[in-house]
Amino acid sequence: MRRQDEEEMNRILSGFRSDETVLQMKQYVQHGNVSTYDHCENVARLSYRIDKRLHLHCDPDVLLTGAMLHDFYLYDWHRPDGGSHRLHGFRHARVAADKAKEVFGIDGKTEEVIATHMWPLNIGKIPGSREAWVVCIADKCVSLYETVFRR
Ligand SMILES: [Fe+2]
Ligand SMILES: [Fe+2]
Repeated sequence: MRRQDEEEMNRILSGFRSDETVLQMKQYVQHGNVSTYDHCENVARLSYRIDKRLHLHCDPDVLLTGAMLHDFYLYDWHRPDGGSHRLHGFRHARVAADKAKEVFGIDGKTEEVIATHMWPLNIGKIPGSREAWVVCIADKCVSLYETVFRR
């Protein structure tokens, strides 16, 4: 990645890296031994690389904010709690989008990135922008990698 791209990425992510609510994601396990925080950062980095490599000209703020907050739901989905997390796969994208809106006042385009990242499991919620497609695909790649190689 070019140095100016690396700098742009770090500039956009730096606010999240020091935010108390975002840092709460470090308490939760996503896959294997990877925290939700690290998972989100991995998805953000890969999304940004895909955008640059393929010259997709995504909006970097929408792409990186959406990726960094795509799993911003703040609970442990592995812990049984009487069933309310059982539908985690289907519900968490909406929960994360609402939380991101509440905490950061994200715009509609960024909200859409988060809300559609679980396609095709959420079959009716199809990514509707380049940024949303990139995050949706980067999440699948990173999740597979974390599940297979990091346990
Ligand atoms: Fe997710
Ligand atoms: Fe994810």
